[in-house]
Amino acid sequence: MEVNYKFIAQRLVGLTDGVPYEISNLANASALLWQHLPDINWAGFYKLEQELLVLGPFQGKPACVRIALGKGVCGTAAQQDKPQLVYNVHDFPGHIACDSASNAEVVIPLHAGGKIWGVLDIDSPTVGRFTPADLAGLEQVAQVVEGFLLP
Ligand code: SME
Repeated sequence: MEVNYKFIAQRLVGLTDGVPYEISNLANASALLWQHLPDINWAGFYKLEQELLVLGPFQGKPACVRIALGKGVCGTAAQQDKPQLVYNVHDFPGHIACDSASNAEVVIPLHAGGKIWGVLDIDSPTVGRFTPADLAGLEQVAQVVEGFLLP
């Protein structure tokens, strides 16, 4: 499924340009991803507070509020400062199942002020839903997000 990530990134610039409210911008970013990405069941943010990732704005079912650094797909991405492209979450040691419908996941670390700010997390019910092309596209969107994050 071809997704126009450049269009999403441009729309996000339009929605957030000149808006000084981080929570509002993150909320609109999760809504935009939810609106434009087919076959997903969760899209949102976790913010690093000391050693914990804390649930931020999202779309989808209610999710775990705290994830320890190094735990699950999100905690691994944040600890290693490395995107995680997970073909099948059931093969990922320590995966945290917030929604039992999730079968594939992509997590991208976000930075502000030269440090890890948190992560963008997207889940899909379809094994193998996210490809390296999706990761590259989402990294364009993540770059726009980093432009409005507050350190
Ligand atoms: N699956 C994630 C937890 C967060 S939810 O998917 C929203 C993980 O393993 O870190």
